Amino acid sequence: MRIGTALTPNATKVLLLGSGELGKEIAISLQRYGVEVIAVDRYPNAPAQHIAQRSHVIDMTDANAIKQLIALEKPDYIIPEIEAIATNALAEIEAEGVSKVVPNARAVQLTMNREGIRTMAVEEVGVPTSNYAFAKTYAQLQYAVDNGIGYPCFIKPTMSSSGKGQSRVKSASELEQAWNYAKSGGRTDTGKVIVEGAVDFDYEITLLTVRAFNQNGTIETHFCEPIGHRQEDGDYRESWQPQQMTAKALQNSQDIAKKVTDNIGGVGLFGVELFIKADEVWFSEVSPRPHDTGMVTMVTQRQTEFDLHARAILGLPVSTQLDKTGASAVILGGLDAKGVEFTGLDEALSDSEIDIRLFAKPESFITRRLGVALATAENISEARAKAVAAADKINVVSRP
Ligand SMILES: Nc1ncnc2c1ncn2[C@@H]1O[C@H](COP(=O)(O)OP(=O)(O)OP(=O)(O)O)[C@@H](O)[C@H]1O
Ligand SMILES: [Mg+2]
Repeated sequence: MRIGTALTPNATKVLLLGSGELGKEIAISLQRYGVEVIAVDRYPNAPAQHIAQRSHVIDMTDANAIKQLIALEKPDYIIPEIEAIATNALAEIEAEGVSKVVPNARAVQLTMNREGIRTMAVEEVGVPTSNYAFAKTYAQLQYAVDNGIGYPCFIKPTMSSSGKGQSRVKSASELEQAWNYAKSGGRTDTGKVIVEGAVDFDYEITLLTVRAFNQNGTIETHFCEPIGHRQEDGDYRESWQPQQMTAKALQNSQDIAKKVTDNIGGVGLFGVELFIKADEVWFSEVSPRPHDTGMVTMVTQRQTEFDLHARAILGLPVSTQLDKTGASAVILGGLDAKGVEFTGLDEALSDSEIDIRLFAKPESFITRRLGVALATAENISEARAKAVAAADKINVVSRP
């Protein structure tokens, strides 16, 4: 294990593909070890670009643009932070062997398309999931719903994230609208949507799972304490850690996460999304990278999910130990404007157990996440209440 000095010829260089709030924290964690970070996004002044040693603005779905940039920068590691990437370029780069794709190109390929990850989870690994089908036409969708999946169900573009193009359909009268929404709401039209039977869960979790080398040079799997979360419109609003679970549900969750991440391979941190009802667990999806609900680890774990990702990638030892009980609540833009201002931080931060992170995104949209409030407390309900109250105190304003 060797780390060079940033901004010298022997630097250990990381290229971040995607420079949002999660990338920014990954960059900070890496820079604490003297790593040189090159932050890439499709727009200038994305959060991680504020702190990286260098940045580039490119269309990351353009394979040639990615290949040219990698030939220029020759990074040791390529860390994808988003799903919308020309993954065929990453596969080529991985095959050349100059840069290491984290955790590997296949993982990025599988998880950018719901069809890839779902098919792998069910057909290769054999973990329980919701009932599902893929549909290329409205007629196929209707057939799948009428012949097994039923209502309520979820319709999603196969390529989308943060709930975009996704709807929960309660009855036949809403199906066509959901089809049209999914066809137009994905980031690329793959020609297909996925329809999933609604899982009637008690609660849902993200199980942060780390694959890292141990002192003997073999890869070991570590689990963080489960993170509970609440979603609205397919996007997370609150998360907390640890989520109380039965011993059996936790064991089942870890078994599923182990099987799925073993299949993916490589090293790094993964966010395994699971639905829980009593002791029963269903796999939903997995991010081969830090997870938005895992931002809570910035106050609950000595080694945050970003530190764990950085350490695993660099071949350093990891500890997933929980330090404190805590919660996060998101701060949404609430308005469409550029260069917004934030008020209320002084009031929100008057409690010493509260932290606020503002991401400094150059443009606000109504449902864009601009920051997060983090709280620690004696128990989950107190931590959640504190985080939500703190987030509520922050106002996003636009001055003409
Ligand atoms: N089959 C299902 N049964 C029950 N709830 C579901 C189902 N699919 C999705 N949901 C609900 O919608 C949320 C978002 O779904 P999903 O994770 O598939 O969307 P996404 O666009 O990938 O979101 P993100 O990128 O934020 O993870 C889930 O966390 C869950 O609350
Ligand atoms: Mg999800």
